[in-house]
Amino acid sequence: MRAYELARWGLEHLNAKELPDPPEPEGCDVVVRVRAVSLNYRDTLVCAGSYNPKYPLPLVPCSDGAGDVIAIGPDVKRFRIGDRVMPIFSQSWLDGDPDEQTLRSSLGGPLHGTLREIMTVPEQALVRVPDSLGYAEAATLPCAALTAWSALVTYGLSTLAGASVLVLGTGGVSIFALQIAKAGGAQVIVTSGDHEKLERVKKMGADHVIHYREQPEWHRTVRELTSGRGVDLVIEVGGAGSLERSIKSVRPGGVVSLIGILGGKAGAIDLTPVLMRNVRIQGILVGHRAGFEAMCRAIEQNKIRPVIDQSYAFEEAPTAIEELSRGAHFGKLVIELP
Ligand SMILES: NC(=O)c1ccc[n+]([C@@H]2O[C@H](COP(=O)([O-])OP(=O)(O)OC[C@H]3O[C@@H](n4cnc5c(N)ncnc54)[C@H](OP(=O)(O)O)[C@@H]3O)[C@@H](O)[C@H]2O)c1
Repeated sequence: MRAYELARWGLEHLNAKELPDPPEPEGCDVVVRVRAVSLNYRDTLVCAGSYNPKYPLPLVPCSDGAGDVIAIGPDVKRFRIGDRVMPIFSQSWLDGDPDEQTLRSSLGGPLHGTLREIMTVPEQALVRVPDSLGYAEAATLPCAALTAWSALVTYGLSTLAGASVLVLGTGGVSIFALQIAKAGGAQVIVTSGDHEKLERVKKMGADHVIHYREQPEWHRTVRELTSGRGVDLVIEVGGAGSLERSIKSVRPGGVVSLIGILGGKAGAIDLTPVLMRNVRIQGILVGHRAGFEAMCRAIEQNKIRPVIDQSYAFEEAPTAIEELSRGAHFGKLVIELP
């Protein structure tokens, strides 16, 4: 089988190789033929060696994928050959709080990821693809969509109906957050640094949009748009670059779901409004399998279709990863396998 391996850190060291097919599955193992892989910002950092340079090399990168079950071990109960499945990001996080072991069980570093033709996965770490989605669409769910779901639902608000949500940016996580929040009945404000992308989110149902470069004091606009109250929840992907404004955008008692650090991971931030306004800052690490399965039901019932900006062939994987790091995309970039 073909697989991409990073022999050393740096995208220039990502090469396709011929590797032996996995052996016949034992116990509860499931062999999956990967049909599509989707890219996350994390993959660009992992390839560069800046996510965690202690991850073991060589490493097959990428966390997200979808494919077909082609063989099962003798003790597998949950799946049959021919089922369409997606591996979960944290392979041992099934429900409840994560633990240290869970945090070390993520695909695409430290565990080998999805950028290969065939992979073996324990049955507990697979989720069935919603019937309404194709492989490329399904490949976008395990990391980006589940992160948005965890932020809004699992660790977010008791109800989305009537709530107001501020979504920063128009990347993979943010577009899913828009779709899930609208499906739940929330009012959604989206920020972007690009007018064209703001037009696109309006067509998708965003109630208000803000150009964050033209309105650098965007937290003031958010407060105006919510009659001075502030939003109930912020999808915070900017990190240190935007956290202070996100805290000022949220209502007293509201939630800032801290997901990304696109604008920096460290900085001096005035924490006074967090306590004075009883704000909850909730760190999000993708999510557990139970949340993933609940999200898949919501995606089917609400007919949510993942937004794929562009699809690439397996041979073009390094180009696709480079494109993601440019940040010009809207929604998801996907790699499709034969
Ligand atoms: N904690 C987790 O479990 C988890 C899971 C997934 C992702 N993440 C993190 O979340 C972030 C987004 O991930 P992604 O995969 O959705 O990335 P992505 O698809 O590459 O999207 C990034 C988008 O964010 C916007 N952006 C860029 N810099 C920004 C800034 N300084 N402030 C606000 N927005 C900014 C841009 O949108 P515009 O062009 O519209 O401005 C850009 O297209 C990354 O930091 C990633 O590592 C974390």
